[in-house]
Amino acid sequence: MRLLAAAGTVLLTAHAWVHPGITNSKDDLERLATLAKSDAEPWKSAYEAFAADEHSAKGYELKGLCPYVARTKESATTVCMTDFAHDAGAALQQSLMWIITDDEAYLDNSLEILNEWGKTLKKVNGSDAQLAAGLSGSNFVNAAEIVRHMSDKWAEDDIETFSNMLSTAIYPPAEQHIPSEEQSVPWIANWGTAGAKLVLAAGVFLENQTAIDTAKELMLHS
Ligand SMILES: *[C@@H]1O[C@H](CO)[C@@H](O)[C@H](O)[C@H]1NC(C)=O
Ligand SMILES: *[C@@H]1O[C@H](CO)[C@@H](O)[C@H](O)[C@H]1NC(C)=O
Repeated sequence: MRLLAAAGTVLLTAHAWVHPGITNSKDDLERLATLAKSDAEPWKSAYEAFAADEHSAKGYELKGLCPYVARTKESATTVCMTDFAHDAGAALQQSLMWIITDDEAYLDNSLEILNEWGKTLKKVNGSDAQLAAGLSGSNFVNAAEIVRHMSDKWAEDDIETFSNMLSTAIYPPAEQHIPSEEQSVPWIANWGTAGAKLVLAAGVFLENQTAIDTAKELMLHS
């Protein structure tokens, strides 16, 4: 028994980081590209619908750049939330369009969105900040993971700027699990699952074991 436990511990701690990870591995992305371009259903129709979506358009333009995004229960104090959500979705869809078509215009669009938000965003707040940070944040990080590890076009200092934004603006509200005055019931139902999704994704992108352990702990025990 003791030997088994010791072996298990070694396996758990001595892992190597595999990229791209989070939602799609390299194999997944290659399979996705092959199926999207084939005549096989349901992939053919699914790809046609995906490509026709406005967030997949080659001419997609950034919706808005805001230093802070607020999602609150009262719409009057909600700031920039839908722009943030649209651009996060577009960052991911543009990265996938690039994977499927091999057309670098999509890669450039994804990089532009990630870089501009990376430079600009300082804070996600409001009573429902966890949802905004968890849902849109996950789209941003998945896009970032794909373009970082499937291309060599993302400059190191831009990656660093994006990583800092992720750690300081998006991660804290997504990770919040102790009630505060502003966010009084964090980590319940879809708030918790959205938050956990971001914490785990950020852990992979940043190669941050603390974040991975936090996500695991929160998923299992909160
Ligand atoms: C969010 O933060 C900004 C900038 O600090 C502040 O002006 C704004 O009032 C805050 N919004 C909410 C809803 O807490
Ligand atoms: C990553 O890990 C360090 C500890 O090594 C921690 O201080 C940092 O805040 C972590 N989280 C993020 C999201 O960067």
